[in-house]
Amino acid sequence: MATKANGKVKELEGEVYYPSEEVVAQARLQDWEAVAEKARKDLEGFWADEANELEWFKKWDKVLDDSNKPFFKWFTGGRVNIVHNCIDRHLNSYRKNKLALIWESEDGKLERTFSYHALNREVNRMANIIKAMGVMKGDRVTIYMGRVPEIVFAMLACAKIGAVHSVVFGGFSVDSLQGRIEDSESKLVITMDGSYNNGKVVELKRTVDEALKRCPSVENVIVVKRVGHDVPMEAGRDHWYHDMLALPIANGKCPTEVLDAEDPLYILYTSGSTGKPKAIVHTHGGYMVGTYSTLKYVFDINDEDRWWCAADPGWVTGHSYIVYGPLLNGATSFMFEGGPMFPYPNRWWQCVEKYGITILYTAPTAIRGLMRFGEAWPNKHDLSSLRLLGSVGEPINPEAWKWYYRVIGKERCPIMDTWWQTETGMFMITPTPSVPLKPGSGTRPFFGQEAEIVDEQGNPVADDQEGYLVLKNPWPAMLRTIYGDPDRYVNQYWSKNPGKYTTGDSAKRDSDGYFWIIGRVDDVIKVSGHRLGTAEVESALVSHPAVAEAAAIGLHHEVKGQGIHTFVLLRNGFAPSPELAEELRQHVATHMGPIARPEDVKFVDKLPKTRSGKIMRRVLKARAQGLPEGDISTLEE
Ligand code: WTA
Repeated sequence: MATKANGKVKELEGEVYYPSEEVVAQARLQDWEAVAEKARKDLEGFWADEANELEWFKKWDKVLDDSNKPFFKWFTGGRVNIVHNCIDRHLNSYRKNKLALIWESEDGKLERTFSYHALNREVNRMANIIKAMGVMKGDRVTIYMGRVPEIVFAMLACAKIGAVHSVVFGGFSVDSLQGRIEDSESKLVITMDGSYNNGKVVELKRTVDEALKRCPSVENVIVVKRVGHDVPMEAGRDHWYHDMLALPIANGKCPTEVLDAEDPLYILYTSGSTGKPKAIVHTHGGYMVGTYSTLKYVFDINDEDRWWCAADPGWVTGHSYIVYGPLLNGATSFMFEGGPMFPYPNRWWQCVEKYGITILYTAPTAIRGLMRFGEAWPNKHDLSSLRLLGSVGEPINPEAWKWYYRVIGKERCPIMDTWWQTETGMFMITPTPSVPLKPGSGTRPFFGQEAEIVDEQGNPVADDQEGYLVLKNPWPAMLRTIYGDPDRYVNQYWSKNPGKYTTGDSAKRDSDGYFWIIGRVDDVIKVSGHRLGTAEVESALVSHPAVAEAAAIGLHHEVKGQGIHTFVLLRNGFAPSPELAEELRQHVATHMGPIARPEDVKFVDKLPKTRSGKIMRRVLKARAQGLPEGDISTLEE
């Protein structure tokens, strides 16, 4: 990369990192403008060409069906299964013997690798087992696991037989798990005895047992052995995975179900502006085309690459870019069980060196966390295999961007800052490797997309003005609805700005057309890139006997991006104390998961509310930051 335009590219405003001649020469796509123009002129033609690079049992009749907006459909009439393109199609090529997945345990003592051939075998076995348990097309299966290869098998096994997976992040705890199992009415839960987190065991099976006390829909639980802890197994309901694998039913091929392009692939719960987390629905056809195409263009995935998406499969980033996108592209993916800092802050750099990782995709919070430990740790390792870096989940501050660029990428590797959401399924605002970069900006919308910044009334604002980010065109990997709640889908995303998708983010666009994401405008808090809702934290707090009312807000945090701060009104008979504050923090961690542990608990006599009784978190936030409280005309006396 260079800091000057090389004559072929336009000069841009501000601090710009231009791609070097070498990067441009290597890039699959050298002329970004030409592809953008093609997609602008013919959106359906662009996506049809992308879809044609994959295999269909039967081609679609229509690329985009917008006859019932905002319930868009893609590739209608097409017959497909995402697993056919993730695995089956590679078995007829040289990729059969190529590594699909490389895995290393947290402690570095175990290494497991799977070729496409082996991945196919494992997915068939898991699919045979879940089918034998009576799981059928359309049934929901909850997957609650750590970062191990079996979570990938489980997701693909569901997809293969047309069942709908609902992965719950293994860092969530009993309330979050129970709510999601209940809402999805899952028949089957796939879990593990426990998973490792920074050297400690997370007791996943025990949490499942606790949750299932209140989930009557669940008939069977499959338990993968990982840590070897003794866990209670309920006869008739709980089955060790290794016992099932030894049964004759596990053997042999399980046919890949021929599905409709619009058949659901998975649901994934995410926090919205209000109330309970909602289940975002993604489909086989459109999601497949979107994740395939975005990974291909943005990270320029090639056969020689070793791709590492360091997210967790429990979040959308893991769904789209650990599991589906890389396999659709026939790539080799690396999956690491642990985190970046355990036991030392060189754990990731050891892995990059050991496996020759060429592309690393992670979140700003990890970069900031690693930055604190200085350059000596990465400098101990040979990182010369890297050729591209990526960032996702929250805005990356320019200091972190520059550290990542200089210390990890050695000023050679462009950083793909990809803005997207659980709902979008795929990258939406993102560079490609040959695009000039500005630290902190995701540059421009992906091909076929137009984004806009609007004011409260929905009118476009001027360049460099902050406003609400909306998307103007449909895209194939878009969410189709909220599972079981189509009205909420319409209200949440399509009613504020008719005809446009409301993202829930605020942003600016500069005079070069580059977008700068500022943050959420709703009650979503991004803690270390994890998406949490104020409502969930509040309901965990009020489930404690001492708490009458509670409010949660997100405030800037040096490493996590945002931290959770809470305000609590106690019931009669309870007195504020540091011990009680600590107990309440722990209570939230126990019920929701350690990631949701509040930074602090402040005891208050009253909470600012509207006359209709809604907590005005905006006012709490302004007060906490010492800022003006804004319009408080609706504040109750
Ligand atoms: C934020 C994660 C700035 C944003 C894939 C969005 C980002 C929310 C970026 C979605 C980025 C994601 N720059 N902000 N590159 N990527 N966000 O559903 O606020 O967990 O609305 O999806 O994360 O979070 P979600």
